[in-house]
Amino acid sequence: MKNYENKVAVVTGAGGTLCSEIAKDLAVRGVRVVLVGRTLEKLEKVAEEIRKAGGTCLTAACDVADREAVARLAETVDETFGGCDWLINGAGGNNVKAMPTITSFDPRELTGELPEGTKGIFGIDSDAFESVLRINTMGSFYPIMAFAPQMVRKGGGAVVNFASMNSYCPLTRCFAYAMSKAAISNLTQSLAAYFAPAGIRINAVAPGFMVNERSRTYLGTVEEGLTPRGQSVIGHTPMGRFGEAKDLLGCVRWLLDQEDAAFVTGITVPVDGGFLTLGGV
Ligand SMILES: NC(=O)c1ccc[n+]([C@@H]2O[C@H](COP(=O)([O-])OP(=O)(O)OC[C@H]3O[C@@H](n4cnc5c(N)ncnc54)[C@H](OP(=O)(O)O)[C@@H]3O)[C@@H](O)[C@H]2O)c1
Repeated sequence: MKNYENKVAVVTGAGGTLCSEIAKDLAVRGVRVVLVGRTLEKLEKVAEEIRKAGGTCLTAACDVADREAVARLAETVDETFGGCDWLINGAGGNNVKAMPTITSFDPRELTGELPEGTKGIFGIDSDAFESVLRINTMGSFYPIMAFAPQMVRKGGGAVVNFASMNSYCPLTRCFAYAMSKAAISNLTQSLAAYFAPAGIRINAVAPGFMVNERSRTYLGTVEEGLTPRGQSVIGHTPMGRFGEAKDLLGCVRWLLDQEDAAFVTGITVPVDGGFLTLGGV
């Protein structure tokens, strides 16, 4: 196992399903980890596990879409651990208020005659829509801006952003989420080019359909039964299962590793059980 004891990683979304496992995986290898999210309790639970296993971490409640709060976070990381080497931009997600319940236009949207409980695109909450865009895009951009100077000072660094299957082709109903995750792949390329002379590599992972609390409701499980949307996902996933957080760990470590991924920057790596190999027909 590689020893990363001199590394400091900032992991946003560290109280969540995927990035809590990424944070624990890095901490167990000796990385000093900064756990970032809005809800301190979620972060403390992860921190407790890390400390019990002998790891070193710091928890920081911070809204990653708030530029000033992220700048203060960067100061704290500098004071506590002497700066950041690796940034994992995992904070993000969707909001049902930003989604219609129907998958394509229905003329009754224009006459107010949609059935009770049904919402078309004109009924979505524009504040929620903007919030999804902001958290998923600016919530990755601001941390890169805040931590890049520390990486430059330390002679280089690495960033892993979180894209999605929506970065390649949008899923139905996910307008704001899909827009923002497509933007993440693009931002990964443009910032990778910009920061290459500084020795900062910027890449992204694009998780396929990973199991989390929400997915159990809207996709179901292979073992206990799938929803129609879940059946469609599994039908398009040659490996025939949903992903789990542990499926991402090796890819994230590879993208962070300055030796193994020395010449790799600006890419988005799908970790999707083959979802992108099929056109859906
Ligand atoms: N799970 C999947 O199938 C899947 C697939 C493709 C891509 N992804 C992406 O992978 C990343 C992690 O997903 P996940 O499944 O682990 O989701 P998750 O369990 O909901 O975790 C996301 C975490 O982000 C934090 N967060 C959200 N907005 C934030 C903000 N403004 N500032 C700081 N923290 C914020 C949340 O904590 P607080 O609410 O406490 O802030 C939450 O703990 C996300 O970017 C997601 O879009 C997930």
